[in-house]
Amino acid sequence: MAQHVRGVIARAKGEPVELTTIVVPDPGPGEAVVDIQACGVCHTDLHYREGGINDDFPFLLGHEAAGVVESVGEGVTEVAPGDYVILNWRAVCGQCRACRRGRPQYCFDTHNAKQKMTLLDGTELTPALGIGAFADKTLVAAGQCTKVDPAASPAAAGLLGCGVMAGIGAAINTGNVGRGDSVAVIGCGGVGDAAVAGARLAGARRIIAVDIDDRKLEKARSVGATHTVNSREADPVEAIRELTDGFGADVVIEAVGRPETYRQAFYARDLAGTVVLVGVPTPEMNVELPLLDVFGRGGALKSSWYGDCLPSRDFPMLIDLYLQGRLDLDAFVTETVGLDDVEEAFARMHGNDVLRSVVVL
Ligand code: APR
Ligand code: ZN
Ligand code: ZN
Repeated sequence: MAQHVRGVIARAKGEPVELTTIVVPDPGPGEAVVDIQACGVCHTDLHYREGGINDDFPFLLGHEAAGVVESVGEGVTEVAPGDYVILNWRAVCGQCRACRRGRPQYCFDTHNAKQKMTLLDGTELTPALGIGAFADKTLVAAGQCTKVDPAASPAAAGLLGCGVMAGIGAAINTGNVGRGDSVAVIGCGGVGDAAVAGARLAGARRIIAVDIDDRKLEKARSVGATHTVNSREADPVEAIRELTDGFGADVVIEAVGRPETYRQAFYARDLAGTVVLVGVPTPEMNVELPLLDVFGRGGALKSSWYGDCLPSRDFPMLIDLYLQGRLDLDAFVTETVGLDDVEEAFARMHGNDVLRSVVVL
């Protein structure tokens, strides 16, 4: 029987979000209903509310979540009721050209639930990133559930479902940071700090955090930065070169998503170094670079989608490292709030000391 539960929706562009009753159908073939325990508040939720993603209002917001599988539909074998899972927004298909080439992290045809959750009057909801987890329960494709060790706290674990995974993955998957590398991270919000933590995990020798805000830099130090640069006060390219014996960093991760910081990243890396763009630009942004420098400096210019993660491979591994005290996911949880606090959490998002507000149910 379909269930009536609480959910946070964005009804129309720019309007404050509402806590309302939603209808969650029983899981159909290949689907699962998950009892949500925690869900982080991410910029993407705000972008949905502002109409910046698409116009398919009303949205059911929330997508960085952990919870317990309540029920599964026909044919589901990968998870079972009672499993503790992190939700992911890239359930790989196994059939597309990327999957067939053994590169499922780039899957071009990821899965979501086929059935729709609705409002009481039958209006269909669009779940944010195919998840919609600012709700007591949500309906997803079973492949969106990744089982992890239940000893991990839901508030910390859920963050791996999006921003923190994007940052860690930008360092360890896309940037391929290795032992002894020098790494610079430009922009130290939740994503950038996760990249710092990922670089530390991978054995980087120098980790230079760049931001325009000293409080962000202090936080970056606490998750692993060995040096910090306030780019309001110093030229970040020169500062990074100075801190790397005059050469530049092996890997520079751009976690802002702006042309000027991308340019800094481009010039702050060593010859044959790697730039990773994990910050998300807006459609009007352009970047101009001398083609001779693109050629002459060599190396790799890469973009990182969701940290190029493969949830089934990366989530359980990172949760184990967290439980061993080698990855401090708790450091990313600035505050825990209730389901009716999402609008206020949006307002605090650009505050200087919030990495993540996490809704705990
Ligand atoms: N130079 C350096 N740092 C900057 C600059 C700049 N010109 N402009 C902003 N920043 C810093 C901010 O001070 C902040 O610490 O970048 C950080 C951005 O952090 P958040 O706003 O918390 O964003 P976050 O969640 O980390 O996401 C960063 O990654 O996934 C994408 O869409 C996301 O584009 C966004 C980016
Ligand atoms: Zn695929
Ligand atoms: Zn997100």
